[in-house]
Amino acid sequence: SVPSMAASEDFLQCLSTTSIPSQLVFTPSSPSFTSVLVSSIRNPKFFTPTTVRPLCIVTPTNASHVQAAVLCGRRHDVRVRVRSGGHDYEGLSYRSERPETFAVVDLASLRAVRVDRAAATAWVDSGATVGELYYAVAKASPGLAFPAGLCPTIGVGGHFSGGGMGLMMRKYGLSADNVLDATLVDANGRLLDKETMGADLFWAIRGGGGGNFGIVLSWKVRLVPVPPTVTFFDIQKSVDQGAVNAVTKWQTLAPTLPEDLSIRVIVQSNQALFQSLYLGSCSALVTTMSILFPELGMTRADCREMSWLQSMVYVNSGDTETPVETLLNRTTSLSTFTKNKSDYVKKAITKDSWEKIFPWFNKTGAGIIILEPHGGRVSGIADADTPFPHRSGVLYNIQYVAFWTGNGTDAPNWISGLYDFMEPFVSKNPRGAYVNYRDLDIGENTVVGGVTSYESGKVWGEKYFGGNFRRLAITKGKVDAGDYFRNEQSVPPFVSRK
Ligand code: FDA
Repeated sequence: SVPSMAASEDFLQCLSTTSIPSQLVFTPSSPSFTSVLVSSIRNPKFFTPTTVRPLCIVTPTNASHVQAAVLCGRRHDVRVRVRSGGHDYEGLSYRSERPETFAVVDLASLRAVRVDRAAATAWVDSGATVGELYYAVAKASPGLAFPAGLCPTIGVGGHFSGGGMGLMMRKYGLSADNVLDATLVDANGRLLDKETMGADLFWAIRGGGGGNFGIVLSWKVRLVPVPPTVTFFDIQKSVDQGAVNAVTKWQTLAPTLPEDLSIRVIVQSNQALFQSLYLGSCSALVTTMSILFPELGMTRADCREMSWLQSMVYVNSGDTETPVETLLNRTTSLSTFTKNKSDYVKKAITKDSWEKIFPWFNKTGAGIIILEPHGGRVSGIADADTPFPHRSGVLYNIQYVAFWTGNGTDAPNWISGLYDFMEPFVSKNPRGAYVNYRDLDIGENTVVGGVTSYESGKVWGEKYFGGNFRRLAITKGKVDAGDYFRNEQSVPPFVSRK
C-alpha cells in the first residue's frame, strides 16, 4: 500500500519528536538533500528525473537514532530502506522500482572500526567501506587482514549481508563466513546482538542478503593472518596467444590451486586477463606457476611484491605508487551506467564452447565477464551452514558487466543475449546467481494482501539461496511477519498455513 501524504507528514512529525537531531534528517526541501542522496550512488541509471526517491533521508550517528526511525516508520506505515555503501546493483537501498513512499536510513556516519590486535578480531560499523576496514586493520597490525571485495568503496553493511567475495576467499571464505557477532535493529525497533537475536536470525544475516531482516549496525569479525609480502600479477593473453586454451584449463585448475593462490579472469574484447593474488613471495609463485600453469608463461618479471594493504590498492590502480590512503576515499563517480548479472559454473565449459563465447566480446555493446574461482575454504563450508549455497562443486562465479555512457538507461542487448547464450553451460535447476550481484531480471516480488508472496519470492530466491531460501523465509516470518523491511527482491515471510 502507498501511504497517504498524511502518513508521510505524521512520520516526519514523529521523527522530530525523537532523539534524532533535526540536522540529521534531510527532506527534498533541504538544500543538501540531493547531495546526500547522490553521495553513494554508483549508477546514474538510478539518479534520473523519474527515479522514485525517498521521502527523506535519515543519517543516524548512533543506534538509538536507527531505532527511533524504525519505530516511527512502523507507527505511521512508512517503510525504511537502509543504505550502507550504496553499491547495490539495482539501487534498492535508495530508490524504489515502483511508486512507493519510503525513507532512507543512511549509515554512512556510523563507520567506526575498532581492532583488537591481541584477539585478532574487530568490530566494524556497517557504514564503513571495505577500504576503510582494510586500512584500519593493516594499520593496527600489518600481519592482519580481512577477506572481502575488491572495490574499496563497497559498504560493509550490504557486502557482508550478501556474503562478500574477494581474492582471499579460497583461503579464508567469504566475509560473512568470518562474522562472529553482530548488532541489529529489528522490525520492532529492538537492538539485538548474537545472543538476543537467536540462532536463525544470526544465521540469516550472514549471507541472506541485505534489506531483509533488520538493520545491521555493526559486525564483529575474525581477522586473518597475511605474510609481510604478497605477490600480484596481471597476465594478458589474446585469442591469438592462446587465451581460449588458457581459460579452458583455468576452469578446473583455479579451484584446486593451493589456497594461498587466487587467479581470477577478466575477459574483454579478444583478451583474457589473468589477475592473481598470492599470499607469499615471487620465487615460490614462479615455481608453482611453471609447474601447474605453464600456459601463462609467468616469470619473475610479472611479479609485483608488496604488502597486502598495498595489493588492495594495486588491484584497482595497477601501480604501487598510489598511496594506501586512497582506500579511505569514499567518493564515487556517477559517470558510467552499468548492468550486472551472474552465474555459477559447476562443470567446465569445453574449449569448443569457449571458441563460440569469445566472439561475443567483439559485438556491439560488448562489456566484460569476470570469473572468480571457488574451491578451498569457500567451497569447504557446508551449503546449509550459511545462506550462501554456492559451495561444494562450484568451480567459479561468472559476473557479466555491461557498461555505457550517455543518456540511455537501457542496457545494451549484448548482456541479455550473452546470458541467454550461456544457459547450457552454467548451473541449472535452478540457474544460480549471487545475491550481492543483484539482478531484478531474475524475478521481482509481488505483494498479496499487504505481504510479499512466498511463491513470487521463490522464483528469484532459489537462484540466490538454493535450498536455504525456505529457511530464510521461515526466519523472516518469525522476525518480521508483517513484512516491514521489504523491497522488490526481499525475502518474503513464510508463515505456515494449517
Ligand atoms: P547498499 O547500501 O546499496 O546495500 C545493498 C543492500 O543491502 C540493499 O538492499 C540495502 O538495503 C541492504 N543493506 C545495506 N546496509 C545494510 C545493513 N546495515 N543492514 C541490513 N541491510 C543492509 N561484491 C563482492 O562480493 N565482491 C566484490 O569484489 C564486489 N565488487 C563490487 C564492485 C562494485 C563497483 C560494485 C558496485 C559492487 C561490487 N560488489 C562486489 C557487490 C557488492 O558486494 C554489493 O553491491 C553489496 O551489497 C554492496 O553493499 P553496500 O553496503 O555498498 O550497498
